[in-house]
Amino acid sequence: MWGGRFAEGPSAIMREINASIPFDKALWRQDIAASKAHVAMLAAQGIVSADDARAISEGLDRVAAEYEVNGVPENLDLEDIHMATESRLAALIGPAAGRLHTARSRNDQVATDFRLWVREACDQIDAGLEDLQRALVGRAEEHAGSVMPGFTHLQAAQPVTLGHHLLAYYEMLRRDRSRFADARTRMDECPLGSAALAGTGFPIDRDATAQALGFARPTANSLDAVSDRDFAIDYLQAAAQCALHLSRLAEELILWASQPFGFVRLPDALSTGSSIMPQKKNPDAAELVRGHAGRIVGCLTSLMVTMKGLPLAYSKDMQDDKPPVFEAHGLIALSIAAMTGMVTDATFRTDRMRAAAELGYATATDLADRLVRHADVPFREAHHITGAAVKLAESRGVALDALSLAELQAVDPRIDAAVHEALSVDASVAARASYGGTAPLRVREQVAAARKALGME
Ligand code: ARG
Repeated sequence: MWGGRFAEGPSAIMREINASIPFDKALWRQDIAASKAHVAMLAAQGIVSADDARAISEGLDRVAAEYEVNGVPENLDLEDIHMATESRLAALIGPAAGRLHTARSRNDQVATDFRLWVREACDQIDAGLEDLQRALVGRAEEHAGSVMPGFTHLQAAQPVTLGHHLLAYYEMLRRDRSRFADARTRMDECPLGSAALAGTGFPIDRDATAQALGFARPTANSLDAVSDRDFAIDYLQAAAQCALHLSRLAEELILWASQPFGFVRLPDALSTGSSIMPQKKNPDAAELVRGHAGRIVGCLTSLMVTMKGLPLAYSKDMQDDKPPVFEAHGLIALSIAAMTGMVTDATFRTDRMRAAAELGYATATDLADRLVRHADVPFREAHHITGAAVKLAESRGVALDALSLAELQAVDPRIDAAVHEALSVDASVAARASYGGTAPLRVREQVAAARKALGME
């Protein structure tokens, strides 16, 4: 395709280091679509004849049909998907194929194909995240009133509801989806027609190709269009942030499935056994989601480092843009699917959660709050009094609400007769009814809002 000025062909090493076909064949659908849009525009502008354009377009359909059935042949001599397709087209339709590359370069071609691919990846991830959100909302509704310990520093802090805890992840995923949507909006400009770097002298119609490929508009600067990969980095940043969220949820499920916690039984279908220890059921899927997050962050780092020192416009380093994006996309899509399965089919052991919430003095704040509200004690003083009550209970080895009124009033006489009402875990969560709080009432409202946002009504 470019041998005219060369006295000898590339060495075997050159062919191998240069070839991107082993991975960029994943772009074949986008490459065919962009070529068809391009040739239709060339014909409409009178740059190629209607007959040649028809032959090219029908030939591209035949190439696509072959790829569909047999896959894309990996001929390293043809470097990349763009060369492979054009060469197959030439074999099928003859010299007219040579007119397809008029007013175009592989530089704007690859930028266009890759944007189309990443745009579709955003849509796929959005659909997966929506499914996971639905699963979370369904389980949150079921467990709006299920009490569990809430932790800070992984120490029992205050009782919360499981529904509230699950909806925390619904919110994270809502922001993740908006990050993918932002990235998608920003990348929705078509590079095709930027040619190698400077644009072209042919009277092309960039609005027509942009529209044919479903882009909002053509890119405004040809140098920028062929040489930035920020759209792919935007995608990877959204994926990395989302992977961090999935990883935290995975970590919690792993922890909760451990024997000392015993808060959850993970579905058999997403667990594995041990080849030596017959009793084992390991949370491998969750562990791999946690592991994959590291690899996805690595993919983001990889592309950022590839791009950081490159002068405008295209350099071949940029061919290395695709493997990290393809890898991250496969990992995040699988992670989302695995988490959806785990959330949908996990068995939450609400009895164990409740028992754990009742240990660890998690309602101590409720005692302090009560002193503030019923006896007008300043919060700092109430905190101190409650600390003394916890110390007493701890020395007896009992829960806070197992102390008698007399014992509590010996700590401070301002503790009122109905104090025990406030010390139960149910009273504690019900009391936290501030907007965004853990009270079952608020959780049910949040579930209703989420169901509406997801169109689950
Ligand atoms: N395979 C190349 C890539 O993925 C296509 C662009 C080649 N352009 C060039 N000037 N060699 O980046």
